[in-house]
Amino acid sequence: MEIVVSGIRPTGNLHLGNYFGAIRNFIKMQHENLCYFFIADYHSLTTHPTPADLHGNVKSVLVDYLASGLDPEKAVLYIQSDLPETAELYLLLNMNAYLGELERVSSFKEKIRRQPENINAGLLTYPTLMAADIIIHKATKVPVGKDQEQHLEMTRTFSNRFNRMYHVEYFPEPVAYNFGEQLTKIPGLDGTGKMSKSDNENNAIFLGDTPEAIRKKVMRAVSDAGPTQPNQPKSEPVENLFTLLNVVSNNDTVQHFEELYNNCQIRYGDLKKQLAEDMIIFTAPIRERIAQLNADNDYLRKVVKLGAEKAHESASKTIKEVREIIGFRNF
Ligand code: ADP
Ligand code: TRP
Repeated sequence: MEIVVSGIRPTGNLHLGNYFGAIRNFIKMQHENLCYFFIADYHSLTTHPTPADLHGNVKSVLVDYLASGLDPEKAVLYIQSDLPETAELYLLLNMNAYLGELERVSSFKEKIRRQPENINAGLLTYPTLMAADIIIHKATKVPVGKDQEQHLEMTRTFSNRFNRMYHVEYFPEPVAYNFGEQLTKIPGLDGTGKMSKSDNENNAIFLGDTPEAIRKKVMRAVSDAGPTQPNQPKSEPVENLFTLLNVVSNNDTVQHFEELYNNCQIRYGDLKKQLAEDMIIFTAPIRERIAQLNADNDYLRKVVKLGAEKAHESASKTIKEVREIIGFRNF
């Protein structure tokens, strides 16, 4: 049995990229491992949300987690800020995290480009907080999408550094994990890059989107002028549509459109219609549960309380041992 940790920042509703990159793995892993899945609300403060937005987004992610099939009896589901032990470990790890290595992280460099007006210390030390999240439970596996690989590398660096510095074999080396496959990158609908909520609303299909919204976004997805020769390599936007079809449709459907593409008879409108309908079928049960859960604050409160208690048991043990190792000892 492995110890598994993962989290998602509450910055809005979750989309199919989050689902296939992260949550699908959470659901599969919760049955056979000791899993801690949390909502990374401390992390989301790097972009200065209003208190109302922060609270609303934490609730959305919690509801999306549960609606997708995370079971609070099997996995420990908690809110990061309910575990201040994480903040203490973050402080301790920061003492051995160096400016040079933090400045070289690509997500930091991207933030400098995207929000030059708000380059705060929290952004710079994002990887140390993420490492604290993971090693506070001494996790070995971290289900995340491909974009998080570099952060995991940093976590291993901080873990090893701690062990070396104090001559202990205390923290394990966690690895990014995707159930039986390579790490996933789900493309968006705008023809380039990954599905992401931060780019533009129409690029992502959210788990709670209505059928009308899904049809509208998919029908507007970028494609190309169509193949002119048999077996022509696909352009990026078309490759992306096929990748999406692959995750929500059955093999026969994918095969059917592959053949039409390869003999130049494809009509992208037909492919998009099919893609939209299969996305609707896939998300329908999740959307239904989202509506029920949103109305059930009593249940959400119970889930959060139970998760905080269980997470605290594991985290307080780690902090106690780490304090002892570092030399914070009783007289
Ligand atoms: P966003 O890009 O929409 O802000 P996040 O960065 O909050 O999404 O990602 C949360 C989790 O979902 C991470 O584990 C991330 O790797 C995964 N994820 C997000 N988008 C994708 C995608 N398009 N394909 C695969 N995994 C993704
Ligand atoms: N950085 C992750 C993301 O952007 C979120 C995250 C924070 C996380 N702490 C974590 C993921 C710990 C896995 C483990 O998606």
